Amino acid sequence: MTANDSSPAETAVTDTRKRHLRDLRISVTDRCNFRCTYCMPKSVYDRDFKFLERTQLLSFDEINRLVGIFKDHGVEKVRITGGEPLLRKQLEKLLDMISVSHQLDLTLTTNATLLKQKASMLLDAGLKRITVSLDSLDENTFQMMNDMKVPVSKVLEGIEEADRVGFQPIKINMVVKQGVNDEHVIEMARYFKGTGHIVRFIEFMDVGSTNGWQMSHVVPSKKLVEQINEVFPIEPVEPNYFGEVAERWKYSDGSGEIGFISSVTQAFCQSCTRARLSAEGSIYTCLFATQGTDLRMLLRTGASDSTISNVIANLWQARTDNYSEIRTAETASLRKIEMSYIGG
Ligand code: GTP
Ligand code: 5AD
Ligand code: SF4
Ligand code: SF4
Repeated sequence: MTANDSSPAETAVTDTRKRHLRDLRISVTDRCNFRCTYCMPKSVYDRDFKFLERTQLLSFDEINRLVGIFKDHGVEKVRITGGEPLLRKQLEKLLDMISVSHQLDLTLTTNATLLKQKASMLLDAGLKRITVSLDSLDENTFQMMNDMKVPVSKVLEGIEEADRVGFQPIKINMVVKQGVNDEHVIEMARYFKGTGHIVRFIEFMDVGSTNGWQMSHVVPSKKLVEQINEVFPIEPVEPNYFGEVAERWKYSDGSGEIGFISSVTQAFCQSCTRARLSAEGSIYTCLFATQGTDLRMLLRTGASDSTISNVIANLWQARTDNYSEIRTAETASLRKIEMSYIGG
């Protein structure tokens, strides 16, 4: 089967725990115009920080070729991430290439600052769904968290434009940090209730090694479910698909859906089907990996599709990852890959 064939995967792979390879998250840049304190703190990502050079980034042709090979191994969903993916020049070209060559669920996670300009172009290029990160509707809190003085209105305008051009429902990711934005959860739920968009409350995780994570910063989803339920009664809903990261709930009055992503208090490694491709072409089988496997070198030294395909299959078949199940204070302080490099 060729990399561009759109028939179901004939060479699907499973890992040591029988987990399939279903999702590919592709980081297209390690740069971002935010400095979220929990992701790219200014103390580390300052003027001297060395981001990847253009030549180090995979080209769109290289990415699209890999997508075809991953698809042959069973990948059904591709999520474009960053850094901030809309900072990658002409990203719409990549989306267009992927959507023309491969029948896939093609999605993107963005901070929405460039959505007002780009939403329509992204839709035309074949993007199917959008997820927006937004941590608070309170001006001071949001600006403190993005640390670049970006106002809430900038993100809301982006969401409105994406909605207007036809991206519905939009998912809104709110990372909840104790003592920082946990007081703004109800306001977030209220704002999007009845709009058709789906807010997902995410437990703050110990990704990377620069965000100063401590267990005491985590607000367990269970607590948020109780808080929201007191104001807006909610009830659980069955997952949309096996391995869905967010636990789904709906408002009992029928005014929409919300979700909770509880990777700290309720690890979902058992159903984890995600691989991550960094902007420079290394593949990681876990968000908390300390090491990746370089595919760029293969791409740039004339390796055939079947050679690359074998490397990916061998890597996935040997996979044992279960970081969130075994998290301890010790593992939390290990030197891990940063979220802005590997994509969320
Ligand atoms: P849908 O396709 O809409 O279901 O997307 P999704 O649920 O995969 O959501 P998204 O990709 O936006 O992921 C939301 C957040 O969940 C990420 O930003 C991470 O914070 C967290 N997350 C996603 N995948 C993983 C994972 O494999 N491990 C851990 N620990 N967290 C994850
Ligand atoms: N914990 C949980 N979620 C995080 N994200 C970034 N860093 C973290 C973290 N430490 C989320 C962002 C975005 C997605 C890409 O990942 O808010 O929605
Ligand atoms: Fe940028 Fe997203 Fe990281 Fe914030 S969480 S710094 S928006 S990549
Ligand atoms: Fe998957 Fe690793 Fe997250 Fe577990 S910790 S769900 S194995 S990415």
